[in-house]
Amino acid sequence: MAETMQGLKRSCYCGEVSVADIGKEIVVGGFTQKQRDKGELVFIDLRDRTGIVQLIFDEQSDRAVIAKAKEVRSEYVLLAKGTVRRRESVNHDIPTGEVEIFVTELRILSRAQTPPFHISDENDTNEELRLRYRYLDLRRPALQKNIMFRAELARAARDYFAENGFIEIETPMMIKSTPEGARDYVVPSRVHNGSFYALPQSPQIYKQLLMIAGFDRYIQLARCFRDEDLRADRQPEFTQIDMEMSFVDTEDVLDMGEGFVRYIMKRLKNVDITEPLPRMTYRDAMERYGSDKPDIRYGMEITNLSDLVKGCGFSVFASAVENGGSVRGIVVKNGASTYTRKEIDKLTEHAKGIGAKGLAWVRWVDEKPACSFAKFLSEEELSAILARLGCEKGDAALIVADKDRVTLPVLGALRQICAKRMDIIPEGYAFLWITEFPFFEWDDESGTWVAMHHPFTMPMDECIPFLESDPGSVRAKAYDLVLNGIELCSGSIRITDYELQQKMFELLGLTDEEIEAKFGFLVEAYRYGAPPHGGLGLGLDRLAMLLCGADNIRDVTAFPKVQNASELMSGCPSPIDAKQLEELGITLAGGAE
Ligand code: AMO
Ligand code: AMP
Repeated sequence: MAETMQGLKRSCYCGEVSVADIGKEIVVGGFTQKQRDKGELVFIDLRDRTGIVQLIFDEQSDRAVIAKAKEVRSEYVLLAKGTVRRRESVNHDIPTGEVEIFVTELRILSRAQTPPFHISDENDTNEELRLRYRYLDLRRPALQKNIMFRAELARAARDYFAENGFIEIETPMMIKSTPEGARDYVVPSRVHNGSFYALPQSPQIYKQLLMIAGFDRYIQLARCFRDEDLRADRQPEFTQIDMEMSFVDTEDVLDMGEGFVRYIMKRLKNVDITEPLPRMTYRDAMERYGSDKPDIRYGMEITNLSDLVKGCGFSVFASAVENGGSVRGIVVKNGASTYTRKEIDKLTEHAKGIGAKGLAWVRWVDEKPACSFAKFLSEEELSAILARLGCEKGDAALIVADKDRVTLPVLGALRQICAKRMDIIPEGYAFLWITEFPFFEWDDESGTWVAMHHPFTMPMDECIPFLESDPGSVRAKAYDLVLNGIELCSGSIRITDYELQQKMFELLGLTDEEIEAKFGFLVEAYRYGAPPHGGLGLGLDRLAMLLCGADNIRDVTAFPKVQNASELMSGCPSPIDAKQLEELGITLAGGAE
């Protein structure tokens, strides 16, 4: 039987014991990091979420106490009372390294089996096993730190928005599907067999209805659910710092967002952001970086070569320009020796994998540059290309010819790969607003225009006359905040004019019936007076990940899901029993398992 805490109360966290406590009697509780038995001397490193402190038992210890200390194994949960004293030799590896606790009373509150992996940040146990025992993995100092950081971030968000007059309002989790672009997770109804709730992809419609209801500044730390392919910065459920404000235009929302960035960077990282955050239009971002979420901590910008190669002797280049496409390139400074032919072949395969037809290249190692297309061009033409690119001896250049919708994103992706490979990305936080997103995006699959952000986004005032005549040119009052190449936040000013909203739905190819069935209640609400409003949703998990220096969102999520959206610890999703299915009126296509 394990012992109880009766009569003994924890008085102090392990990591907080210091020289100021020397001579004091304290009680600490925690997990056993390590026990070392040296006969007359026993040491136990006791760990809690604040750190580690050393317990010591020696020849002066009560025999029963030292006997119990000898029984202790890794991860046993202990409560120890003792006196703080100065250590003979300081352990510089831990903050409490100058002191130790001479234990007079020891309780083993819980014994532990040998864990499947050692609880340490240094272990390289595969992640699958660690996720299966997530509660053990979470004991690791690095994860404890991340999870606590995330809590601080959530608290700072609440404080900032409360100080700015925002009201925290919860919106429902079981809703009618919202159109955010991913697939919904759905919940079957028992009472209404055959009908389903959707879990919110975001509280988008509800927050707009709250504006119509007169709560002019809304904030929520909202759980969102999306059935989409997972990546390092995507979980099927995640949290948005979701906000909406009335009587505002783009500038007001961006100001509030910037204020938040400034506030958290100061409060959580002690970084002063005094300058306005840089801004770039979507178009500029695509042209210069081939991405709507560029990492601007390094250059390697894309250069347009189209006018130089128009009508040149290399048909790949000439025909791309002739067909309304472009020829563009990037230069990897000092990259010629890194990018051997073999390495370039790998890049070519990658480029092909994401839609390029090929990759032209220059490697300038010797006096004369080696170049995959040299034989098709004159020396002058080649020199002009190199000069335009800024490619010099020692550099490598990569060139793609195709439609803009291929050249830009492909070079954008190669730019990132090369920057990582060349290790030229400096530390730091590069925030960037991307503005003026296109309203419509052409969807090849369905052969229709789809909304790039969502259909409630306001077109820019000057674009409204072209809604029907030239949808492709319509820009929206939509903006993203990017940090170090990752999209942190997205938002827009919303349409509040129901006639305009109706028109946008129509342009998106929705029939009256579909509009009524999907958004009837929202369109109707606009008829009762809607203040102009807009807002944004900021990914709390992504922000926590970036500010913690983690490279996967799983590292800031207590119980994350893996690539195939399952949770390895509990084993969800899992079948439900036949009775439950019957109540829900559901028959499985493949029959019950
Ligand atoms: P959006 O869909 O762009 O906008 O999402 C806003 C932000 O949420 C984060 N995010 C995610 N984080 C983790 N895992 C995911 N699967 C995931 N998907 C999105 C990103 C993203 O920038 N309703 C609008 C906001 C608005 O217009 O106010 C919305 O949801 O950081
Ligand atoms: P080829 O004539 O197919 O041997 O191609 C000559 C060079 O042009 C090779 O380096 C190819 O990789 C490159 N290339 C082919 N298609 C493209 C393209 N769309 N954009 C850039 N380079 C290309």
